[in-house]
Amino acid sequence: MATTMALNAIQKIAAKKIFQLTGKNMSDPREYNAVKRHVIARNNRLVAGWGKQHDLFQNAEYINGSLYSGGQRLDFSFKDWNTAMQPQNVQGAKNVGNKCYVLAKQMVNTPMKILMTGAPGTGKTSLAMAILNFMASEGFSVMTVSTMELAHLMENRFEATDVKDRLYYLEKLMKTADVLLLDDLGTEGGMKKDAKPVRKDMQELLFRVANARLDLKRNEPVHSTIVTTNCETKELAQMYNEKIISRIVPHNRQQIVDFSGLQDVRK
Ligand SMILES: Nc1ncnc2c1ncn2[C@@H]1O[C@H](COP(=O)(O)OP(=O)(O)OP(=O)(O)O)[C@@H](O)[C@H]1O
Ligand SMILES: [Mg+2]
Repeated sequence: MATTMALNAIQKIAAKKIFQLTGKNMSDPREYNAVKRHVIARNNRLVAGWGKQHDLFQNAEYINGSLYSGGQRLDFSFKDWNTAMQPQNVQGAKNVGNKCYVLAKQMVNTPMKILMTGAPGTGKTSLAMAILNFMASEGFSVMTVSTMELAHLMENRFEATDVKDRLYYLEKLMKTADVLLLDDLGTEGGMKKDAKPVRKDMQELLFRVANARLDLKRNEPVHSTIVTTNCETKELAQMYNEKIISRIVPHNRQQIVDFSGLQDVRK
């Protein structure tokens, strides 16, 4: 999408720097417009106090530092969301897709918390990744952390020094990413029926992260956090201290995407 807005002198310097850093072709109108949108969007956010002054290389650090389930990144965009994969509930699939898209658009202007809840295989991680891809294209730093993989790292931290270093770096990124996806929260607490409190050191880490992502005085998010889970909030509360859940889970229904009524597409 072309933008008719002209860049001011400082924005022009920022755009030039992006072209230099990325080796993109400034005389290609499509690339020029993409960078222009990026610079204007960042400027608008800074005026509103949301979003960091990360450059494209810093943004890559968050993606590279991510911790994916099974070590695999699910590459998914809104255009990949196929409502025909839910033949028994096409409208339900449409609704969750549309709701996530609307929330992504709102997130460009305001940091927020989002909760995606529902049964396995209903598309929660896919739509969360679609939001992350969308936000990355708007110039935000995005990061994914599978809580199961994080718990696994925690378990191994005393065995290997490189794991300790990795955790230290991970925490720093998790505190500062513009958009953080906590994927599959609750699986690390065991299966639903025998849910037990999550290990103390992991709770403490998540508490520090949750605090860093919140303006504690105004009680509003300073960065966006998306949680996907198979659990009900009360089940999460059995695994995590309520102070953590209260900080990362939204209380407003508008920011809760409910996948119930959709089928497990893996079946
Ligand atoms: N509506 C859809 N359109 C296209 N692909 C879909 C759709 N729903 C699910 N998929 C695909 O099905 C697979 C499972 O979806 P996904 O991992 O997003 O489910 P999930 O709700 O996160 O499951 P879990 O709770 O087990 O983590 C993925 O490969 C995903 O891309
Ligand atoms: Mg998932």
